Amino acid sequence: MAVIEVNHPLIQHKLTFLRDKNTGTKLFRETLNEIAGLMTYEATKNVQLQEVTVETPLMTTKAYTMPEDVAIVPILRAGLGMTEGITALIPTAKIGHVGVYRDEETLEPVYYYCKLPNDIAERKVLLVDPMLATGGSAIYAIDYLKEQGVKDIVFMCLVAAPEGIEKVVAKHPDVDIYAAKIDEGLDENGYIYPGLGDCGDRIFGTK
Ligand code: PRP
Ligand code: URA
Repeated sequence: MAVIEVNHPLIQHKLTFLRDKNTGTKLFRETLNEIAGLMTYEATKNVQLQEVTVETPLMTTKAYTMPEDVAIVPILRAGLGMTEGITALIPTAKIGHVGVYRDEETLEPVYYYCKLPNDIAERKVLLVDPMLATGGSAIYAIDYLKEQGVKDIVFMCLVAAPEGIEKVVAKHPDVDIYAAKIDEGLDENGYIYPGLGDCGDRIFGTK
């Protein structure tokens, strides 16, 4: 188990635009995807490469390619805002979707949709959601994936609250968590502070 804050200057610089309440939908979407791409670099660092043979202009040599058994699983809706940035780097990955929203009163996750690749149990899954707040949605999605037989899950988010991290680690110690920033905590409404507000609404312009 590992909890990794991806403390790269480019990521921290771009995160500032997402935090800024005056950032509009276009810049917010573009920047979220850019950060997701940059974080993918770190979150895939333990992937076992496949050895291949390639002909250079000079000779035949050993070389390496990414395994083809990767799946990206965004948690709907806000996870969709990271998907393009990741597929730009891992174009062969299959994409599954888990639809969970957080009840505004109880803060409990509510399931509404799922569609996964048929061979999901054999895939390395990069589960993505920009916000890890109470941890309820992430735990629900990880439970769900494990019920489908998935054994290798990495969770990637943008901003995480310590309370949520603690809960995910307690329930799923085998899942590594990558966050661009671990924030201070949760407010009385379960929002991450300082955070960046309601991420889904800011991506899709629904507020
Ligand atoms: C947000 C966010 C996570 C969840 C985090 O989704 O994208 O899925 O809340 O909160 P938690 O850790 O307390 O579960 P939301 O329910 O707002 O749905 P949306 O993505 O459709 O906007
Ligand atoms: N979901 C969000 O979009 N933002 C938060 O701060 C917490 C949950």
